[in-house]
Amino acid sequence: MVAHIAAGGTTDFAPTVLRLPAHYYTDPAHWAAERQALFEERPLIACLSQDIPLPGDRTVFEVAGHSVLILRDDDGQVRAFRNRCAHRSAQLVRSGDGPRARRGRRVVCPFHGWSYDLSGRLANVPGRAGFDPQTLEHCRLSPVAVAESDGLVFVRLRGDEPLDLAGHLRGFAPVLATLELAEMVPVQTSRLDARTNWKIAIDTYAESYHFGVLHARSIGDAYISDMAAFDDHGAHWILTFAERALADLLGTPEEEWPAARHAGTYFIFPNTVLVAGDIGPSERFVRMFRIFPGETPGEMVCLFSVHIAGLSAEHYHARFGAIDDSKSDVTLEDYDVAEGIWSNLAIDGEKPDLIVGRNEPAVQAFHRAILDVVGLPV
Ligand code: FES
Ligand SMILES: [Fe+2]
Repeated sequence: MVAHIAAGGTTDFAPTVLRLPAHYYTDPAHWAAERQALFEERPLIACLSQDIPLPGDRTVFEVAGHSVLILRDDDGQVRAFRNRCAHRSAQLVRSGDGPRARRGRRVVCPFHGWSYDLSGRLANVPGRAGFDPQTLEHCRLSPVAVAESDGLVFVRLRGDEPLDLAGHLRGFAPVLATLELAEMVPVQTSRLDARTNWKIAIDTYAESYHFGVLHARSIGDAYISDMAAFDDHGAHWILTFAERALADLLGTPEEEWPAARHAGTYFIFPNTVLVAGDIGPSERFVRMFRIFPGETPGEMVCLFSVHIAGLSAEHYHARFGAIDDSKSDVTLEDYDVAEGIWSNLAIDGEKPDLIVGRNEPAVQAFHRAILDVVGLPV
């Protein structure tokens, strides 16, 4: 980054410009293929380990019409099940349920009170005489593929085979391990529903070219626009933006630079952005943004969360205020533009191409990875 500053303001480049036709974002068939191939048939981050630290802790992960119950069993292993009672398919935990429904030795259905143990076996049936034993014998929660690694819990919504996390993350796993997410506890969650395509939203996280213009009044001052270091890890990547303070290092011998800070934007394909930062030598935070397709190509949901290690929630809030990422100026600026892009692409008869510059290598990498998996030509 200092070399980019010393060179007068260069940035990492992709080899060529990429053109994306409007229908790549708007075509319902393409969108449905993405939802299936990327969000149902591949691993997704469902939560962080510290969201369910103890046996009996549970959470609900909802995407593409699926609802998954994730819990930690008596052995400390993470398990995932369809959030569906074996009796008449009621949801066992509702996403709006309070903390009391999110802990305990049993999962109790809110409809007729069937209960399950932490391995998904049927534990108790009120009014058991109404059911014959052979039927009940086959009643248990239906498992969903799940794996936990370095503080992240992944699920895969379709398919019976075990979740192949090593194959999904490949060389990115040791990089993610450096974030020490296993120690990070959640301090904040929120959600934003926007009228745009999920890919348009992710595009806004993947370059700093727009910082000085769109974010002139928010983060534009703190960062040098259009300057970033791009580290390609297959479908995943790291993008590091240039804080203006780095210019102070120009002309200073590298041995005298402060220890490298724990900072950067980490993208875990297909939909998760982790923004990592340090407050002090052992005080760290990660802001997580998970972007999902909504009910149509022009709708999406972003789940925001903040996770910290080495400091208290009070200390974090004292330092950053009660920042809610879903309402920050940067988020509102990005999503306002993203909704406007969608409006333009969705107009009948208009078929503009989107041009992704050589200075936007992470945006290019994101779309090449999608095209690689979904296999549709654009
Ligand atoms: S649907 Fe769950 S107990 Fe009836
Ligand atoms: Fe932005």
